[in-house]
Amino acid sequence: MNPEAERHQYSQEIAQRAATFIRDKVNEGVIEVALKSSRTDMVTQVDRATEQLIKDAILERFPDDSIQGEEYGEINGSSRYQWVIDPIDGTTNFVYGFAGYAVSIGIYDRELNRTVSGCVLDVPRGNIYSALISQNALKNGKSITVNQRKTLSEALLATGFSYSDEIRKIQGRIINENITKIRDIRRAGAASLDLSMVASGEVDGYYEMGLQRWDYIAGAFIVEQAGGVVTGGLNKLPSYELVIAGCPELVVQIEEMVNLDRYR
Ligand code: IPD
Ligand code: CA
Ligand code: CA
Repeated sequence: MNPEAERHQYSQEIAQRAATFIRDKVNEGVIEVALKSSRTDMVTQVDRATEQLIKDAILERFPDDSIQGEEYGEINGSSRYQWVIDPIDGTTNFVYGFAGYAVSIGIYDRELNRTVSGCVLDVPRGNIYSALISQNALKNGKSITVNQRKTLSEALLATGFSYSDEIRKIQGRIINENITKIRDIRRAGAASLDLSMVASGEVDGYYEMGLQRWDYIAGAFIVEQAGGVVTGGLNKLPSYELVIAGCPELVVQIEEMVNLDRYR
């Protein structure tokens, strides 16, 4: 097995272990909640303990790899591979017991300068979305493809709202001005799952501002391996500013719809 495939397989094993840990904590009850960047940005002891579990598992098998995690920052190793982890994406859902939170693990190759593996495990539902470089994306082991709905008026879009009030105001204006132009909108509460659901055709497209790398790296790669495209707006790469996903024709229309120059 080549190094990417070996890591990809292991990332899925780790995600399953992490999901079991999270489910056990839910069954034990008593989730302690603290606030991070704003009144809406929550973190629990389970987010932190899950990241620790994932980190320990990676370093046990690949001690020279690098890790970037939401809760504990970065570890810089000597190998070309960097693991990018969101231990619980959708913490608000997790705290409320609202289905739709995920373990998200992406693997980035620093020599190729690209993502080579993505794995997003929806903890309450048990669905696992995954992709390995040069292979088609999978949901629960079956091949998935991005929908080919090419017009905005027929498109079911997913989005999310930032923890920053400034960004939220812009997001509200974009919805206000465009809600009559699209089929409907979903705010499911976990960016990695929103992207995975674009990959599997559970929604047609997605856009969001204010995401961190660990929110989107695995999901964006799964979209690409399912035949979709992911951009950061007109001629830009995905970034904190903006992430847009869908089939190529739809992405062009979402880019026009959320053209940030009009909203700032
Ligand atoms: C959040 C979720 C949410 C998105 C936020 C993210 P977290 O991640 O992905 O859907 O709208 O921007 O920060 O905090 O639950 O890991
Ligand atoms: Ca997240
Ligand atoms: Ca998180």
